[in-house]
Amino acid sequence: MQIRFADTRPAGDFALVLPVAGKNRIALDSLGADRSAVEAALNRQRFEGDSGSAAELFIPAEGGVRRLLIVGTGEKGAEADAAEKLGGAISSRLLTSGEKQAVLDLGGLNYDADAVTRVALAAALRAWRYDRYRTRLKDKQKPTLRELTIVGAPAEAAGLWKQRWQPVYEGVSFTRELVTEPANIIYPETFVERVRAAIPGTGLEIEVLDGEAMRKLGMGALLGVAQGSVRDPRLLILRWNGGKEGDAPVAFVCKGVTFDTGGISIKPAAGMEAMKWDMGGAGAVAGAMIALSKRKAKANVVAICGLVENMPDGNAQRPGDVVTSMSGQTVEVINTDAEGRLVLADAITYAQRNYKPKIIVDLATLTGAILISLGHEFGGLFTNDDDLANQLLAAGQASGDKLWRQPMAEAFDKLIDSPIADMKNVGPREGGSITAAQFVHRFVENGTRWAHLDIAGMVWSDKPNTTYDKGATGFGVRIIDRFVEAAVEAR
Ligand code: BES
Ligand code: MN
Ligand code: ZN
Repeated sequence: MQIRFADTRPAGDFALVLPVAGKNRIALDSLGADRSAVEAALNRQRFEGDSGSAAELFIPAEGGVRRLLIVGTGEKGAEADAAEKLGGAISSRLLTSGEKQAVLDLGGLNYDADAVTRVALAAALRAWRYDRYRTRLKDKQKPTLRELTIVGAPAEAAGLWKQRWQPVYEGVSFTRELVTEPANIIYPETFVERVRAAIPGTGLEIEVLDGEAMRKLGMGALLGVAQGSVRDPRLLILRWNGGKEGDAPVAFVCKGVTFDTGGISIKPAAGMEAMKWDMGGAGAVAGAMIALSKRKAKANVVAICGLVENMPDGNAQRPGDVVTSMSGQTVEVINTDAEGRLVLADAITYAQRNYKPKIIVDLATLTGAILISLGHEFGGLFTNDDDLANQLLAAGQASGDKLWRQPMAEAFDKLIDSPIADMKNVGPREGGSITAAQFVHRFVENGTRWAHLDIAGMVWSDKPNTTYDKGATGFGVRIIDRFVEAAVEAR
């Protein structure tokens, strides 16, 4: 969906959207003679202007009727959350309504450019869908809304949208596409192809290692996961050099398991189709790199994505196998379904050996246990650095993709000691997300500032929310974007 800004309402047919901040109905003043009938209709519907509430009615216009969508923003009208709910409501209500054009008239409400672009971002995000394989949709099921025009915004909003937030919308959209695609379409090689197709003109640099190149580097942990699949793995490296020359980069390392059957420690059949989105960490990082490059972030950033498929064929690794990682550390693979940490291990070593990053943040759909801890409300944050924790928590809060810090401790680290190798790839069931984080931590060298985001509960949603329909959420892109802005560019 296109976002436009205008000084006055356009001519012709459109659905009119008016925000109402609780009892403050000043935005209705523009209705003129229709106002009292509209107010009566709102009162009949017991509409009180609460944030997230909406009422639809029709008013006479130009000899016909016009759809009027009234959206509540609550008393504190311009707060980020209310602004997002306003944008989301516009798209969820109008996307398949038959309306092609929506005009949001901000009227007498004092939205600053940040709040207005927040409305725009939420509206654009909520209108995203992927219908490539739905070839028999009835006309009534197809999206109709093509454009949202925002009237009455401060002058700088249009530029802020184009330069700062439209790139984020495009990044999130790219992530959602990668996450939505099934595993017969997106596997390591085609993941890379999709990224290649998306980057011309962005200034992103790309480098790709195949299985053979990784074998030469000794990436035995990642390759052990890949060896049961006919799909050759890839290590995808993306660089954005928008900062000062010579400044150490921030590295985003990610899990890109394009399908996770569990391997020989195979998963139950029910629900296994969900494991097509086990590349959600890599999807988020790829989308974030698109966003950062398109908004020309003043930061040096490198992304390292470990792309593999975890399958159980005759060549698959067995429980009990010992693999040697690129770091030299050996791992006893107790459970082949704990594969994400094996992929991250070598990707982190590669990042450190080649880029000497000042900060490493990894994103991964790492454990089912994080869903038990945090449900679908927060991503889990694990880190060896309190300042980094606060920066990431703040980025989560500001972006709307929320994080909650989880503990790490020596006592948890001990639980992954192995009698035959340097460590084993699983601990006990209890604290499963924490021992997974401790495992990853063992591959972080020289006390580098590091954080791990376990986003297994967040990349896919079974129900619609403010900024997404059910399906891929694009979680993580906005955290990376905000974190880079506040913690890297601002320095
Ligand atoms: N990809 C899964 C984690 C996952 C589970 C993501 C459910 C989303 C929803 C991961 O590779 C995995 O299988 N983890 C195991 C680890 C266990 C074997 C220690 C898990 O969480 O069960
Ligand atoms: Mn697994
Ligand atoms: Zn997995």
